[in-house]
Amino acid sequence: MYNDKKVVFSGVQPSGNLTIGNYLGAIKNFSAFSEDYHCFYCVVDMHAITVRQVPAELRRRTYETLALYMACGLDPQKNTLFVQSHVPAHAELGWILDCYTMFGELSRMTQFKDKSQKNADNINAGLFTYPSLMAADILLYQTEMVPVGSDQRQHLELARDIATRFNGIYGDTFVIPEGYTPKDGARIMSLAEPTKKMSKSDANENAVVRILDDKDAIIRKFKRAVTDSDTEIRAGADKAGITNLLTIYSCFTGKTVEEAEREFAGFGYGDFKLAVGEACADALAPVRAEFNRLIADKAYLETVMAEGAEAAYRCARRTMSKVRRKLGFTELKR
Ligand code: TYM
Repeated sequence: MYNDKKVVFSGVQPSGNLTIGNYLGAIKNFSAFSEDYHCFYCVVDMHAITVRQVPAELRRRTYETLALYMACGLDPQKNTLFVQSHVPAHAELGWILDCYTMFGELSRMTQFKDKSQKNADNINAGLFTYPSLMAADILLYQTEMVPVGSDQRQHLELARDIATRFNGIYGDTFVIPEGYTPKDGARIMSLAEPTKKMSKSDANENAVVRILDDKDAIIRKFKRAVTDSDTEIRAGADKAGITNLLTIYSCFTGKTVEEAEREFAGFGYGDFKLAVGEACADALAPVRAEFNRLIADKAYLETVMAEGAEAAYRCARRTMSKVRRKLGFTELKR
């Protein structure tokens, strides 16, 4: 609880231009919690440096991710929006939780295995201990609910295990968080390889639709989407490409996948792809317009960052003083 409300926390890495996977799996769902929960939405720049970043790009994307949060409907008066590295308690608790996270647990993380393969020349210790920093992000705010795409479920389970272990040793310290993944859209697939997750760091631009792509780019990418040699527009395990497009269409229009199947019965793939592209571009147009307005006002974004960091710190420091006391760290009398 914080200020008499249950807490929601989530984060997005500023490690690439955000995709419709980030949007449909996570950010689009964030604003639904704003009324009933105290929400902390963080731009996790410290997580991003587990993979080499160009400093100027990291800085630019940090502003952009914050502006996108707002463009997607997050009012900074109703949500605490902040940047991870502005609240050093994340690093502090991250280190502490490293000491309560097992080597074997971290070794089993599928994201670590994937990223080690993709970054074979830079398998650094941060990439390995990434999930305990993520656990720190969540546990620092006594979070009850974490809205994420399904690729983060394993990390969330580990955060729960770490919290349970810590509480078992020291008595109640952390709330055990629950995950929230949307029914549809929790795993949007690549348009080029529909059996793989859509990823913001994919080098193939045709595989990903970015939230800020313009209408022409969006339609072009959907037109090129890999499907199958069949002609039927239906969801199914044997039809990864079409299933993905139906899911995307249903998320952007609010229709169910079954309704979409009925709507497109008898259509050719070309017309169907165009309809999906148009639904996506129409839904994202207001987000893009609002983003363009916000990103032009750097001073305002800096005010939001500063106020967010201050508000986050006020909550985080309560947990930190509890954790320090429980661990047996000495207190400095000033
Ligand atoms: P990141 O930056 O990779 O992704 C941000 C959010 O987008 C979701 N997501 C997707 N959802 C559906 N389909 C996809 N193809 C897709 N790709 C990404 C992710 O599940 C995520 O919710 N480790 C996290 C960031 C993080 C975090 C946290 C999240 C750090 N600390 C604490 C929650 C709580 C990550 O790398 O997300």
